[in-house]
Amino acid sequence: MSINGWFPLALSDAITAGSSAGAIVKGLEVVVWRDDAGNAHAWEDRCPHRGMKMSFGFVRGDHIACLYHGWQYGVDGQCQKIPAHPELDVPKSICVNTYGAAEAGGMIWAALGEAGDAPTLPDATAVRSLYIEVPLNTALAALPSAVGAKGFTPEGPVARLDSRWGMLLVGLQEIGETSCALHIAVAGRATPETCAQIAMAAARLRDDVEAGVAA
Ligand code: FES
Repeated sequence: MSINGWFPLALSDAITAGSSAGAIVKGLEVVVWRDDAGNAHAWEDRCPHRGMKMSFGFVRGDHIACLYHGWQYGVDGQCQKIPAHPELDVPKSICVNTYGAAEAGGMIWAALGEAGDAPTLPDATAVRSLYIEVPLNTALAALPSAVGAKGFTPEGPVARLDSRWGMLLVGLQEIGETSCALHIAVAGRATPETCAQIAMAAARLRDDVEAGVAA
């Protein structure tokens, strides 16, 4: 299946400098990581050596090292160092498959396939990411009532909802046919109390749709 477009992988706040995480978009495994300079990266979650997940590796400065044999990859995805062969001039052909990455609306986005322009969203306060064991459309159908909105404006993989707490931006990550993630942010600056209320409503949404009792 070809995957084309920009997709949210995580809330920006969740990937701090020097950290990484694995994400799945429609079955495609992606590693999202942030270097020490603060730049976010999205790559195929697969080491070209023996296929270990790069998300199991370690971020050090401007590179990420694979957990298995320690091969180190720079921000361009190129292998820079093979610890078992420190004198080796590493062939250019050894590189991780990289994707475009951008940050918008409090989320990190990856450009997969024919992606076009990066999403344009207002500055936002990250609230929480929810991982839900239902199809994305099921979660989406229950979302407006869960946050006091009349409906939502779908814009590809993001929904804007005029909620009781203001404009919510919800990044829509279809993990697979029966699971999804919602990355929730609120436009502008929000207090910790507001974020806590939104997070509680979101958790209820998750519990209700997984139990099959959502409106
Ligand atoms: S599998 Fe990654 S370095 Fe060997």
